[in-house]
Amino acid sequence: MTDIQPLPYMDIKLDIEDRIKDLLGRLSLAEKFRLLSGHKMWTTRKIKRLKIPELGTTDGPNGCAFHSTYKRNTLFPTSICLAATWNRELPLKYGEVIGLETRASGRHMILAPGINIDRSPLNGRTFEYLTEDPFLNKEMATPYVKGVQSKRISACVKHYAANNQETKRFTVSSEVGERALEEIYLRSFKAVVQNADPWCVMACYNKVNAIYGCENKFLLRDTLMDKWGFTGFVCSDWFATRKIVGSSGCVKAGLSLEMPHTMRYKIKNLQTEFDQGKFTEQDIDFLVTRLLRTMFRVGLFDPKEHLPKGSRNLKEHWELSQKIAEEGIVLLKNDKNILPLDPSKTKAICVLGPNAKKAMGKPFYGGSSAVWPKHEVTPYKGIERKIKGRVVLTDDMTAADAVILIMGLNHSGHKDAEGSDRQRLELPQQQVQLIKETAAKNQNTIVVLVNGSPIAMSEWIQDVPAVVESWYGGMEGGTALANVLFGDVNPSGKLPITFPEKISDSPAHVSERTFPGVDLKVYYDEGIYVGYRHFDKKDIKPLFPFGFGLSYTTYEYSNLKVDKNRFSGTNKINLTVDVTNTGSRSGSEVVQLYIRDVECSADRPIKELQGFNKIFLKSKEKGTVSFTIDKSNLEFYDEKEHVWKAEPGKFEILIGSSSRDIKLQTTIEYQ
Ligand code: GLC
Repeated sequence: MTDIQPLPYMDIKLDIEDRIKDLLGRLSLAEKFRLLSGHKMWTTRKIKRLKIPELGTTDGPNGCAFHSTYKRNTLFPTSICLAATWNRELPLKYGEVIGLETRASGRHMILAPGINIDRSPLNGRTFEYLTEDPFLNKEMATPYVKGVQSKRISACVKHYAANNQETKRFTVSSEVGERALEEIYLRSFKAVVQNADPWCVMACYNKVNAIYGCENKFLLRDTLMDKWGFTGFVCSDWFATRKIVGSSGCVKAGLSLEMPHTMRYKIKNLQTEFDQGKFTEQDIDFLVTRLLRTMFRVGLFDPKEHLPKGSRNLKEHWELSQKIAEEGIVLLKNDKNILPLDPSKTKAICVLGPNAKKAMGKPFYGGSSAVWPKHEVTPYKGIERKIKGRVVLTDDMTAADAVILIMGLNHSGHKDAEGSDRQRLELPQQQVQLIKETAAKNQNTIVVLVNGSPIAMSEWIQDVPAVVESWYGGMEGGTALANVLFGDVNPSGKLPITFPEKISDSPAHVSERTFPGVDLKVYYDEGIYVGYRHFDKKDIKPLFPFGFGLSYTTYEYSNLKVDKNRFSGTNKINLTVDVTNTGSRSGSEVVQLYIRDVECSADRPIKELQGFNKIFLKSKEKGTVSFTIDKSNLEFYDEKEHVWKAEPGKFEILIGSSSRDIKLQTTIEYQ
């Protein structure tokens, strides 16, 4: 009895491209139309005749969401906390675990990572994104995507593109110049596409230069696919095609999947416009081929035994969540080295504040990125466990040796939440009041921020000796915070976003025209001068600069060496820097490399991040970090010639522990 030969598209021995071709050839036009839109909120539609199963999707950037899987999964620290670790290994592991939990939740694609650049500190979804800087963005997002897809789960990089605010997100047009698009808003998408090959990209709600993301042929077919070589498929954000007229615009632009269900891609609409000659079956095949490619890549047609086994809520998943929270915590102020607290010398502490006992992981809390974990260690719980039996917890702030105020924001509207932007940069007034009153009663008042976006602090920061940025730290956030506060972990986080003194210092907040826009248009007048690029250019002192973060130890930088002072073409410069831990505690330091173009035909930022390395050093240990610089690190986008180029001339290499604390520098020449 000979084995029954599987149909070619079912044959796992065949090349994916051959399997796609075979399956495409078996689909009728109506069946192809059917594949182009979603079903039941989270899946594509099956085609029983050909045994095409549903492709299942789920949110979100911080873990596998309950609302799309009906399962409680690992809640990771929010994306901005992941970026604050400046540790490339962590997003890789983060992605791997999310891939495992997505697979174990019965889904094939995670709607993540969100990699929109933080243009305004008031953007409600800042917590879900990584950073204001395109280099750090791509360095964290690339391993994340690789991690997810290593489990044959598709990442879905979002929201392409220039989706940088929540106000009127369904209809506003981001009016962005060509150079700002290239150097800031598209740059990370391009790098992730070319370095991590994501199997899906999500088109945004908003318009970009007057055309909706889902029907923006310049963004999708011309740039993403033809120019960058994207091989996956484009899906819409949920309901993002609602305001679009007709279906041919989306078809010709390259939208393969309309989610969560048919609106523009109703079969009768598609058929009508097809009959009218507005698009061809070849156009449809172009879209379906990309969708099928991801279906094959995630193993939709393969026997289960050939696919990675998923897993959920393993102890090591939770430990990873805690590690990321610990490494993402940023020590912003620590006068008199009041931190870390020593339990052996502390009799009593008082822990207060609106976020002390607040769990942040609940279904839909903050929007689509919400994850509901099996448990969540709140800051209070973490501290209580840490000092149990050693230090008394008291409510009397005058009797306590120290008061820890757990302040910040939460995921309710007009704070850190999808669907609305923050109205102000300051903490709510009652929190400012509590800080000032507490500091007046106890000089050892430590403020811990639990939030996902910058906070202005000028009303109260001078009253307290210590401030810790702990972000939304995920299900083990309280454990991580306690480990840092009591010295079991030396904080090593660095800010991935500038903290302005006041909102009017921010480049997006010059006028209503620049945020949140007028007549449904928001003008990115600042161009490439986003974040620290703006603060440097205008010489505005930030409250805390991009890349800033203190430690419980100190580091000394020395011996900056380059293997050559000039290079040309595709050659590279290799450089090393020595770092010594001059303090009494081991710790990790993020050594940052910025480039300054000394002279250029175009206006350029004072400095741009083009490298970083995180190095762990024991007390008194000296280590060496190395960097490689090539032409790509020197380039800018020339709007006149519409090309990326590095102009010959001198460039300064700036080595620092933050964008405003340059320790060593040297000059190189590109010929
Ligand atoms: C939401 C978000 C997107 C999310 C999707 C599914 O509105 O914009 O990030 O993945 O819809 O929930």
